Amino acid sequence: MKPVIALIILSAAASLPVGAQCCKNPETATCTCRATAMIQGEQWLDTDGNPINAHGAGMLFHNGKYYLYGEYKVGETILPDWATWECYRTDVTGVSCYSSTDLQNWKFEGLALKAHEDPEHDLHASKVLERPKVVYNAATGKFVMWAHVESADYSKAAAGVAVSDSPTGPFEYLGSFRPNNAMSRDQTIFVDDDGKAYQFASSENNATMYINELSDDYLRPTGKFTRNFIGESREAPAVFKRNGRYYVLTSGCSGWDPNQAQIAVADNIMGPWTLIGDPCTGPDADKTFYAQSTYVQPVQGKTDCYLAMFDRWNKTDLKNSRYVWLPIVWTDDDKPSIPWNDKVEIR
Ligand code: GAL
Repeated sequence: MKPVIALIILSAAASLPVGAQCCKNPETATCTCRATAMIQGEQWLDTDGNPINAHGAGMLFHNGKYYLYGEYKVGETILPDWATWECYRTDVTGVSCYSSTDLQNWKFEGLALKAHEDPEHDLHASKVLERPKVVYNAATGKFVMWAHVESADYSKAAAGVAVSDSPTGPFEYLGSFRPNNAMSRDQTIFVDDDGKAYQFASSENNATMYINELSDDYLRPTGKFTRNFIGESREAPAVFKRNGRYYVLTSGCSGWDPNQAQIAVADNIMGPWTLIGDPCTGPDADKTFYAQSTYVQPVQGKTDCYLAMFDRWNKTDLKNSRYVWLPIVWTDDDKPSIPWNDKVEIR
């Protein structure tokens, strides 16, 4: 392992203690702040003192700020009478957005994309909206969101796309489709250094991962795609690039239940991909610490520093799902490794 310089994430908010969590007294309108560590799997509060509600999240760094986007889960978790498998869901409410300069103090910016009242609309409460990811298109100046949009029975298997002029929204929903006429469920978007973007999506009934090259405006596929991890049922893709090589962290396919993570590497983003193995180490590593990957965020201003973000699902009470964020470290033979740490510490 490389020498480890541990640091609790630096607070850029001068008036708050490091890792502050604040609660507002509604009667006096005053805030009480206390310094806390972000403990894995515990409730993380935003700067208003409310639980951070951003599941299946993605992150974007833009103009000096991190933006966190995720499934905003409120209300009951529903398992329909007709369900033949554990397709637990919550009503669609929208995609939340939080901002932070230090990855620890998160300000709620509201719903960047909101649910829709039309029962036929993809974003109606009765549907499913998962794994939103937002990227910035430098050529158009637009923020582009891709998400997994579903029918309540998970048969739609489509991608929904929305755009905004601002990272905090409001995002205008443009509609949904199956990229390259193939199913699209768990998904992420990756923008390469040359500005080209790609959607990674679990397809063919989650058996095979598609990498779909996107158009210059990031709004649709170009038609160029590759099939990867054929028949291996990989989900929850999170992509990052280091020293010119591409990495994809994935989960297995067991619904809301945890399973073993895998990481693969490629010299070309469209593949071929070479399996490295399970990067997780420590207690319950073979169950991804009872969590599932969702995104990997490069930490700004630090070399070789990538924060791997996971969801610890609570399948029968999805709004009470929690988060696990762990930095990736590099082994002596230059392989990515994700050691357990009971709190979020950037190394
Ligand atoms: C998981 C997937 C989640 C959600 C869930 C539904 O495999 O990663 O995002 O779709 O299945 O059971």
